[in-house]
Amino acid sequence: MTAQPTDDVAVALRGVRFSYGNGATWALDGVDLTVRAGERVCIVGPNGSGKSTLSRIVAGLAAPDAGTVTVLGERVFDGDAGPDPDAYRRARRGIGAVFQNPEDQLVTTVVEDDVAFGPENLGIAHDDIGRRIAEALQAVDMTESRAADPTVMSGGQQQRIAIAGTMAMHPAMVVFDEPTAMLDGAARAEVMAVLDSLQARGVTIVHITHHADETLRADRVIRMESGRIVSEGRPRRDDAARAASADQPHPPADGGDEPQPDSEPIIAVEHVFFTYPGQTSPVIDDLSLNIARGETVALMGHNGAGKTTLARLLCALERPDDGSITVAGVPVALARGNRSDTVRERRSGAAGTGHVRKPRMASRTQRRALRQHVGYVMQHPERQLFADTVAQDVAYGPRNQGLPEAAVREHVEWALQLLRIGHLADRSPFALSGGQQRLAAIAGVLAC
Ligand SMILES: Nc1ncnc2c1ncn2[C@@H]1O[C@H](COP(=O)(O)OP(=O)(O)OP(=O)(O)O)[C@@H](O)[C@H]1O
Ligand SMILES: [Mg+2]
Repeated sequence: MTAQPTDDVAVALRGVRFSYGNGATWALDGVDLTVRAGERVCIVGPNGSGKSTLSRIVAGLAAPDAGTVTVLGERVFDGDAGPDPDAYRRARRGIGAVFQNPEDQLVTTVVEDDVAFGPENLGIAHDDIGRRIAEALQAVDMTESRAADPTVMSGGQQQRIAIAGTMAMHPAMVVFDEPTAMLDGAARAEVMAVLDSLQARGVTIVHITHHADETLRADRVIRMESGRIVSEGRPRRDDAARAASADQPHPPADGGDEPQPDSEPIIAVEHVFFTYPGQTSPVIDDLSLNIARGETVALMGHNGAGKTTLARLLCALERPDDGSITVAGVPVALARGNRSDTVRERRSGAAGTGHVRKPRMASRTQRRALRQHVGYVMQHPERQLFADTVAQDVAYGPRNQGLPEAAVREHVEWALQLLRIGHLADRSPFALSGGQQRLAAIAGVLAC
């Protein structure tokens, strides 16, 4: 049975404004929002529109600069009086928050300790904590993994444990900021099923998402732009269907304007094996693949399938246990003609036992040549950011390649325009929304 939203108010924001820069610009610019107890609300909108900022205010993790904020019956912020620390403390006891990156939310290496962390901090009695752990793990279908190590689990499992940790605090409301952003389709479905079950139990849910199909079960979808709420309404089935079909690979349309790839491969991978140290089975198991110059290829697969490992191998950031890789004419790895029975040895984890010699890797000069051809945008590109401004960060790569200053400026300008972040050029890369940081880091790679 699904619990219905009640008339009680869980969140009431009036005239809320928030600035990261002493009022120079407003991340939230006059937001009025009411969420009823038991309601499931989705917040959508473009990068930098203020969704995460709003979610932190709703979760009691940040105070605004102006307006009033009432959460779970506590008037935590009042424009005239400012924040009320005691009210914040009381309100937070009833609020859980789950964010994008599952790894960042794990605090221990044993599932049940992780789930116990929140209730222990609330000072819940020991016996009661045991009961809560059992309940929460059952709710996310992870009972069997009670004693396991969450740090080596898939993203979907880790996210379910993070949610269990929140549920064990018996929150009246949970704020989710893109909880499925890092997950594959199956793991995403697991997490959405947990949200459905929270909804059925009458927990208030505020959920930020860029996936229209995740909004289907919401009571209300709120759209933000430039720090304001611009529309709200029921979820729309046609939006969700369009988004779901965009997630699937499509065969290319005939006769498009796309440049046709050459038949000559620019990337050639032959019989490559790779096993991480300490693991018994290979992540990359006899992989052969050709990619033609000009071709656009999407590598898809479940969490843990080896996509990132393959990308790192292509960039000479990992050394294969066997096989050859050539990229743009550079021999990234060259097999040393091991005997054919090495396949069996690789599969049985014999890597590094001395039976087989690892491929020869590219020399330093060859690697330098490789860097001129390959730009690598990592899974968390925002972690590559380091300079004082976005423009300086983007300029680092081309400058490092020895381009003259005029050309560096041209490359930077081009990359910023391409990603439509010219307006962020003088901002600190650390003072941006999650999506904006990602775009800035990608610009840095493209500018090279
Ligand atoms: N730590 C920060 N310091 C300064 N400005 C920030 C900071 N975090 C975000 N901003 C700015 O505040 C505005 C709203 O950012 P917010 O993170 O709330 O957006 P968002 O809607 O969550 O975006 P995304 O979809 O990219 O996650 C943006 O203009 C952003 O550049
Ligand atoms: Mg955000």
